[in-house]
Amino acid sequence: MDTLRIDNALSTLKKIAEELPATSFSRSLREAIRSIRFPVLNWPSLRIGDKIARIPVIQGGMGIGISLSGLASAVADSGGIGVIAANAIGLLERDYFRDGRAANLRAFRREIRAARSRTGGLLGVNIMVAVNDFHQLLDVAVEEKVDLVIMGAGLPIKGIPVEAMRRNGVKAVPIVSSARAAELIFRMWKKSFNDVPDAVVCEGPLAGGHLGYSVDQIDDPDCRLETTAPAIVAALKPYEEEFERSIPVIAAGGIFTGADIHDALTMGVAGVQMGTRFVATDECDASDAFKQAYVDCTEDQIGLIKSPVGMPGRAIRNEFIVAAEEGRGPSFRCAWKCLSSCKAEAANYCISLALNNARKGKLERGFVFVGSNAHRVHEVVPVATLIEELRVGFRRRAQERIAGRLKPLAADVRRLWREYEQLGSQKIREAHAALLARVKELQLEVSAFTT
Ligand SMILES: Cc1cc2nc3c(=O)[nH]c(=O)nc-3n(C[C@H](O)[C@H](O)[C@H](O)COP(=O)(O)O)c2cc1C
Repeated sequence: MDTLRIDNALSTLKKIAEELPATSFSRSLREAIRSIRFPVLNWPSLRIGDKIARIPVIQGGMGIGISLSGLASAVADSGGIGVIAANAIGLLERDYFRDGRAANLRAFRREIRAARSRTGGLLGVNIMVAVNDFHQLLDVAVEEKVDLVIMGAGLPIKGIPVEAMRRNGVKAVPIVSSARAAELIFRMWKKSFNDVPDAVVCEGPLAGGHLGYSVDQIDDPDCRLETTAPAIVAALKPYEEEFERSIPVIAAGGIFTGADIHDALTMGVAGVQMGTRFVATDECDASDAFKQAYVDCTEDQIGLIKSPVGMPGRAIRNEFIVAAEEGRGPSFRCAWKCLSSCKAEAANYCISLALNNARKGKLERGFVFVGSNAHRVHEVVPVATLIEELRVGFRRRAQERIAGRLKPLAADVRRLWREYEQLGSQKIREAHAALLARVKELQLEVSAFTT
């Protein structure tokens, strides 16, 4: 249907252009219109250095066992980048309370290897800078030669094994929430390592899990993804020039449909990172009850929590959260102070244990992290079905936008043709120049998403 609309609108435009009176001005406009190809629109691949994902989608790392080898390998197999989250992954092991550090490293390595054995696609890991075993987890990721390491909840600027990462082909991708944070990381990397990260995830305030904003900033228009993502793209330009490589920015937080992916890409980012949608998949490593909580939740149940990590988080607010806020949290034993900034005593609960309970389906003994759009999830589907839905939605949006531009352009060329006799040559020149600029813009948009 949309293809037909573009087809019709393009033939109309071309026909009108051919009828323009033959003048020296009209030649260039006619040629430009003639050269617009019928677009076979598709989403572009995502390149991070020499790593090329067929589709511009990274599955967000989701801690405490939500994104393990099952989900990550399925996404990688579908052409995206699958991500295993390292945070408190040792809770999958029996000996976490005896030696949390060892349990984390063992489970992390095992999940990376399990994912590798299942897919030849691109695999990343997500490590929180704020965890006490950040550097050890990073070493495991580098030894296992994952394709990329995504680092959030803190600034990854100290003790990063940049040389080993380069040797093993591991890309570094910090998560930031502002251009200021991105600039700080890049400045520090340049100074300390004479190098810069390979890409940046810009996570906006609509994301799930921990948020890199104060509660006040969450509704601040200056912190919206639409504002911060283009600002980060601009802030990284000088580093792209200096280091002679492209540094893709990946947008995250609230991206739900293929149309959203299209709109994000038109802001200048190279790809998106999505979490919420991937929870509601068959391959997600959480329990069915955890996934069902996404299907069942309503918009007004989604809210913020004050996490013991010291940042706000977005979750389905339940009785567990209310009780903890009122000082009626469960008694708990801290396994090994996994987070340097943890204020579990003040918060009345251990977030790792609460999230692990939820992962296992014991929802009343914990809570479920979600993105702000989780209430729009209506079913749990295979990853491949989700990716196909996103691909179709992306394409439809691209077609709508192009058809929407072609129609008024055709009308304006026709108007010019009708008014030719009455217009003075200066006016004709100006009208041609304006139309030519619009044709060029259209060509750029068509070529950006044409395969
Ligand atoms: C259940 C859940 C757990 C998450 N855990 C982590 C995490 O451990 N580390 C991290 O950097 N981001 C985490 N996130 C954020 C996601 O990786 C992703 O960037 C975010 O959810 C994107 O927003 P969306 O859910 O609206 O797509 C989590 C999100 C969810 C929903």
